[in-house]
Amino acid sequence: MSKVDKKTAGLRGLKVGNTAICTVGREGKHLHYRGYSIEDLADKSTFEEVSYLLLFGELPTQSQLSEWKEKLQENRSLPDKLKSVLESIPKTAHPMAVMRTAVSFLGTIEPEEDLEGKNAATRLLSVLPSVLGYWYRYSHKKPIPDDSSTEETYAGYLLKWIKNNDEPISETERQMMDCALILYAEHEFNASTFTARVCASTLSDYYSCITGAIGTLRGPLHGGANEAAMKLILSFSSEAEAEEKIKEMLSKKQKIMGFGHAVYKERDPRSPIIKSWAKKLCEKKNGMKIFNIAETIEKVMWDEKRLFPNLDFYSAVAFYMADIDIPLFTPIFVISRSTGWSAHIFEQRSDNVLIRPNANYIGPEPRPYIPLEQR
Ligand SMILES: CC(C)(COP(=O)(O)OP(=O)(O)OC[C@H]1O[C@@H](n2cnc3c(N)ncnc32)[C@H](O)[C@@H]1OP(=O)(O)O)[C@@H](O)C(=O)NCCC(=O)NCCS
Repeated sequence: MSKVDKKTAGLRGLKVGNTAICTVGREGKHLHYRGYSIEDLADKSTFEEVSYLLLFGELPTQSQLSEWKEKLQENRSLPDKLKSVLESIPKTAHPMAVMRTAVSFLGTIEPEEDLEGKNAATRLLSVLPSVLGYWYRYSHKKPIPDDSSTEETYAGYLLKWIKNNDEPISETERQMMDCALILYAEHEFNASTFTARVCASTLSDYYSCITGAIGTLRGPLHGGANEAAMKLILSFSSEAEAEEKIKEMLSKKQKIMGFGHAVYKERDPRSPIIKSWAKKLCEKKNGMKIFNIAETIEKVMWDEKRLFPNLDFYSAVAFYMADIDIPLFTPIFVISRSTGWSAHIFEQRSDNVLIRPNANYIGPEPRPYIPLEQR
């Protein structure tokens, strides 16, 4: 009987389709969105430009960008029926379940066939900050901001909804969030994107593809790692304790969330970028103890296992220092990644083949049926 090769278990290393949206590079240590390096995009671009690039294929001109920003602002408002759904979800629900439910419900009141072309993706991207923020603020009895706010930047608008306190958003927080949204926007055939593409390949609707992707992203081996990483960092009161406990965890073969990657084997190019924002916020907001503990974990992981932090590790520190509650970390990933998922759904549709691999059967050989009374 042929067996699944250990090297290709979990489809590792297999090329299962074409894409022109993104590549982690042939050496598995770089990242490009439609040919532009992540370093350039993070340094020189904005999330509005990057979301346009992913959805429409090219960086926008000045006038395209102004039009795109206007569209993103115009589509922010929450329908009353969706507000009622969000109000009925308990405070104890996981925010990823809130996102999944809200996207699915939106698909019933604003079905894709009523929206032309990429408008479903535009609408979803625009409304997601208010979806997350409305449920969070309503269930925590916090003041609800206006969803038609004239807050110009997408990052600023998101922060306005999800910051835990009502202190004004600082420029560093806004820039950090803009950068995090860029870094999280797209990552080739990762598990949630692949889910969206499998769903799209059956010619299902846009909202079903996104709902499935959200469910996949929730797991701690994928998007949920940022929450788990922050809880781990906060569980240590000193660098010495972090070093001792991480070594202990490794000796028990436990996984440290926020480290390692299925494709990158030497480094995650997004990590140093978000790390520098995490450091800036820690310096400004009296958080160097947390930063130093995080760096200690990074050092121990490298020394002991040659494992490097992935995007989730220092994003967690950056989000925490921007006063965002930990359960909201993975939904931020959803909001940003909705652009990559959407681009993949449209790309899959443009050259569709039903995705349907084969299984390596390891069950019993054919055998006679045993009547119920003889079992
Ligand atoms: C992301 C991940 C699933 C990729 O895994 P992968 O390429 O399939 O690699 P494996 O899980 O097979 O790990 C290979 C080896 O490294 C170890 N390893 C990988 N990531 C590890 C981690 N975060 N902590 C401790 N050990 C880890 C494995 O235990 C395994 O060791 P072994 O060979 O002694 O059994 C894995 O690194 C992981 O679980 N990381 C933590 C979750 C996370 O941060 N996810 C977000 C990804 S962006």
